[in-house]
Amino acid sequence: MKPVNVGIVGLGTVGSGTFNVLSRNAEDIARRAGRAITVTHVGARRDNPNADTSAVKVSRDVLQVVEDPEIDIVVELIGGTTLAKELVLKAIHNGKHIVTANKALIAEHGNEIFTAAQNKGVNVSFEAAVAGGIPIIKAIREGLSANRIDWVAGIINGTGNFIMSEMAEKGREFDDVLKEAQELGYAEADPTFDVEGIDAAHKLTILASIAFGIPLQFEKVYTEGITKITREDVSFAHELGYRIKHLGITRQTDTGVELRVHPTLVPASQLLANVDGVMNAVMVHSDAVGPTLYYGPGAGAEPTASAVVADVVDVARALTTDPKNRVPHLAFRADSLSDLPI
Ligand code: HSE
Repeated sequence: MKPVNVGIVGLGTVGSGTFNVLSRNAEDIARRAGRAITVTHVGARRDNPNADTSAVKVSRDVLQVVEDPEIDIVVELIGGTTLAKELVLKAIHNGKHIVTANKALIAEHGNEIFTAAQNKGVNVSFEAAVAGGIPIIKAIREGLSANRIDWVAGIINGTGNFIMSEMAEKGREFDDVLKEAQELGYAEADPTFDVEGIDAAHKLTILASIAFGIPLQFEKVYTEGITKITREDVSFAHELGYRIKHLGITRQTDTGVELRVHPTLVPASQLLANVDGVMNAVMVHSDAVGPTLYYGPGAGAEPTASAVVADVVDVARALTTDPKNRVPHLAFRADSLSDLPI
């Protein structure tokens, strides 16, 4: 069966991670998708030493990828909302499926993008846009689809949580930790998005839309960051038996849906209070199942790539239209059966 051809646009932290995961785990990925998935074209303004693209077509003009007739899925990882929006709308117009990690793009322009995609009959997938490697979009949309969701609350910015944890545990200075978060590839290109709560507000906008079936309304989020938190605040909170956590909270009220991101005092005994470093955690309260909690790395190259590639696999599976080639959800590799303990 013909492979699914992928074009990756953007070869930064997440782009290189996605490229590497797709090639390193190609065999397992093909088994799960029901066909091979091949990166045939990369759009990047410059090379990245972390990804060897020598065997792949590389275009410096990233728009070339969406004009490539061989490409089935465009993976948008350039970030920002100007070129990214132009590129995604062009790709949709050209009949390509979209996978993106771009929370700003989805939160601010998602309504327009989804309408265009629906009219064209293509998919737009964005698991990696919220909480990095945690499959929270799928958890809410698919795993909790039987429930009425009451509220969602979580730590959804890895950089901010890393900064606050290092300040609390090691007494480090804010600027010093932020610099390290940038070096580790956690922070946004403009790190004020992380520390002023904008990134968390983008993600909360998306979570609320999925949880409550409302349009994306980024402009309605009450947004407060962590820049006013001092080391003294952090240590006073500790003394009183609390941790300061930057939370995104959305809940259904009698008058509508509440959307807010801000630093919050969380009792030290609570699970959310003990989520440290770049880790994210999202708690969802629903009527049938009650509380559920999702935890994992919220940023970084391969954790985010994990979510990007999962979306690519989903689209590839959906493209496998011949029923006799469809892969069951639990697909075993025939040659490994004898290795399994009985
Ligand atoms: N800058 C983001 C964060 C990246 O730190 O959470 C992942 O969305």
